[in-house]
Amino acid sequence: MARIIGGITTSHIPAIGAAISAKRCDDPYWKPFFDAYPIARQWLDTMRPDVAILVYNDHGLNFFLNQMPTFAFGAAEEYHNADEGWGLAPRGPYPGDPALSWHVIEQVMAENFDLTTCQEMLVDHGFTVPMSLLWQDKTPCPVRVIPVAVNTVQHPLASPRRCFQLGQAIGRAVASYPENVRVVVLGTGGLSHQLDGERAGFINRSFDRYCMDKIVNEPEALLDLSIHDLIEQAGSQGVEFIQWLLMRGALSPQVRLVHQNYHIPISNTGSGLMVLESAA
Ligand code: DHB
Ligand code: FE
Repeated sequence: MARIIGGITTSHIPAIGAAISAKRCDDPYWKPFFDAYPIARQWLDTMRPDVAILVYNDHGLNFFLNQMPTFAFGAAEEYHNADEGWGLAPRGPYPGDPALSWHVIEQVMAENFDLTTCQEMLVDHGFTVPMSLLWQDKTPCPVRVIPVAVNTVQHPLASPRRCFQLGQAIGRAVASYPENVRVVVLGTGGLSHQLDGERAGFINRSFDRYCMDKIVNEPEALLDLSIHDLIEQAGSQGVEFIQWLLMRGALSPQVRLVHQNYHIPISNTGSGLMVLESAA
């Protein structure tokens, strides 16, 4: 049977991709950030996932404000990246796993989550930057990927609790897949940041720390937050934290904290990395 081995959360800031391309990972600005990732990669080497379910938000590459699904699941053979205007060379393509995609979609829909399904889907920096950080753009890509795009830009957004519950449904769906597949779930984006408006540059270290603490084994403490609470505490783009909660819902109720790092700021963001291992 398929099994979720654990989850990784990471920020997905485009400047990270630019620093990797420019080989600036050892610069004083970047070193404390990049030095946190080898432990996450070692954990992946040990745990050997076959598939990554990658929860992220599209920032205008595949979807735009005129057409914005709340939850969109990839069901493609392959996913491509394209120029978003951040100066990042396109990455990938990334191999998909349509059989597992459709299994998860069918099971989750049967639990009354009404999803958008995408047999073609461009993936943006929310997806590619975490892939570069965790698998270093190796070819062929060491994992098959299933992108799950969550709307974090065109309000109204799904609540933190709803995102967590969707994660739980994904966890059940994977557990009912008859193939022997090891799955890691990635929650990208966050932590606190606001890129526009009067509070541009806003970062909230104590709230970020609170979220990183609670999400390990007390995620219920975060589920009564409203979207507006999250924006107030974490900034208008800090709401990307709902993707971390979606990831957490897919893991076992109790998890082992393998590794974490919080570094502030990277670009405009309080950047967080967590590695959580599911119970066997
Ligand atoms: C930044 C952060 C993001 O999450 C993003 O999608 C784009 C930019 C930033 O801090 O620069
Ligand atoms: Fe973002």
